[in-house]
Amino acid sequence: MSKIAKLDDIVSLCKRRGFIFQSSEIYGGLASCYDYGPLGVELKNNVKKAWWKSTVQMRDDVVGLDCSILMHPMVWKASGHADKFADLIAECKKCNTRTRVDHLKEKPLPSEAEGVTEQAAQHTEHIALDAAMAKARDLSNKVCPNCGTVGRFTEPMPFKLMFETQMGANVDDSMTMHLRPETAQGIFANFRNVLDTTRVKIPFGIAQIGKSFRNEVTTKAFIFRTREFEQAELEFFCEPGTDEQWFEHWKQARFDWYINLGLKKENLRFREHDIDELAHYAKGCVDVEYKFPFGSGDWQELEGIANRTDFDLRQHQRGIRTLNKWYESDGDLTNIELSNEAEEYLKGPLSYFDDQQKKRYIPYVIEPSAGIDRSALAFLVDGYDEEEVRGETRNLLRFSPALAPVKVAVFPLVKKEGMPDIAKNIYNDLKKHFNCFYDEKGAIGRRYRRQDEAGTPFCLTIDGQTLEDNTVTVRDRDSMDQIRVSTDQLTNDLRKKLDM
Ligand code: GLY
Repeated sequence: MSKIAKLDDIVSLCKRRGFIFQSSEIYGGLASCYDYGPLGVELKNNVKKAWWKSTVQMRDDVVGLDCSILMHPMVWKASGHADKFADLIAECKKCNTRTRVDHLKEKPLPSEAEGVTEQAAQHTEHIALDAAMAKARDLSNKVCPNCGTVGRFTEPMPFKLMFETQMGANVDDSMTMHLRPETAQGIFANFRNVLDTTRVKIPFGIAQIGKSFRNEVTTKAFIFRTREFEQAELEFFCEPGTDEQWFEHWKQARFDWYINLGLKKENLRFREHDIDELAHYAKGCVDVEYKFPFGSGDWQELEGIANRTDFDLRQHQRGIRTLNKWYESDGDLTNIELSNEAEEYLKGPLSYFDDQQKKRYIPYVIEPSAGIDRSALAFLVDGYDEEEVRGETRNLLRFSPALAPVKVAVFPLVKKEGMPDIAKNIYNDLKKHFNCFYDEKGAIGRRYRRQDEAGTPFCLTIDGQTLEDNTVTVRDRDSMDQIRVSTDQLTNDLRKKLDM
């Protein structure tokens, strides 16, 4: 049976082996910001590659994009983020700590007081403000997580989540801009460009991977919830009325993606959002959740699959008709009302003409939106294992080959009899095909252990027999079985084993 990792095990392994470091560590670190080290960047790139492969490369109905992080301010007005993308917070009157209202815990009843740990954190991300307001009125029994005071909070107030920055050097014409809080809007803003430059026809999707930024009130658990993070988002455009069916399609496809990359089925589940936790743009949403080993063994969101209806394209249709008001207001978004010329919607550039059915409509959108950092954390947690081998503990990461940072490690058994030269030749050949690692230092057992801990699926050893018959040992990380393979078969053999 595999060992269930604790978050501390993962943090320590990540630091020790160069997966993930605290940002700006030499200056004491910057809270909630992390850097991916040499092994971590390979893992993260592999997660992104696996997503892109299954979402874009393997499908005939999805194309990709890579949009800028800074976008026209009207994008955020039309999308609703400028006005509605906020968390409801309350400030403790004793210690002035601000907490998300939906993260506040009830004071435990006397019988529960002992051993009460964290309640399951709410799974909601950024819920619709109006519904949250109505829900959040009574804080009289809630506990400040910082000082423990009960029921002494300010009235709940919205806290805007978008990061602001200034664009332009001149004081007079510099503009307040926002770092994107989701990659999705770049896709909506380019809907017409993609239609005009490719042969896509509805139903089709546009995919994007990139950084997003949210000034989260509470960050959480290592790379799970950070203020700068990477998203992999697909906006799948379909005819209204077919949206429920595509929603089911993407729900299953995305669940299967995690399973196919090795996450254990018992650690994954769907969770449907309640009506009052839906984001302002969504008609329905289901999360793919993973059972992370933090909090009290929490199920937490890896990805949300939302039915965004035609909300965003309609809003941008209204937004572009409102642009003149933005110029008139000197760039101040606060009092701008979006145009409401409903009859114009269908004529705008974000509508779609179905030339087979000879009808025009605003497409509906199904959006699977995955967190790359969260997924990387889930793969680390799920792959983590410890086992006793001949009286010693072996730490390993049972990554699927597609995700493993290093695919093959190459070792000469000893540093003599020409073994290093043969090993280097093999290494130089294999690295054209896979990410490989060469190591000739230390006892062979220790070299195997280091690769187990990095999650390397195969180690090759060049030994005395290689000199006689041109075969090397290929050692499997999980079973530790070793077989001999002829050097001229190595690339093909490894390709098959790695499925690459
Ligand atoms: N685009 C959905 C999200 O960022 O949560």
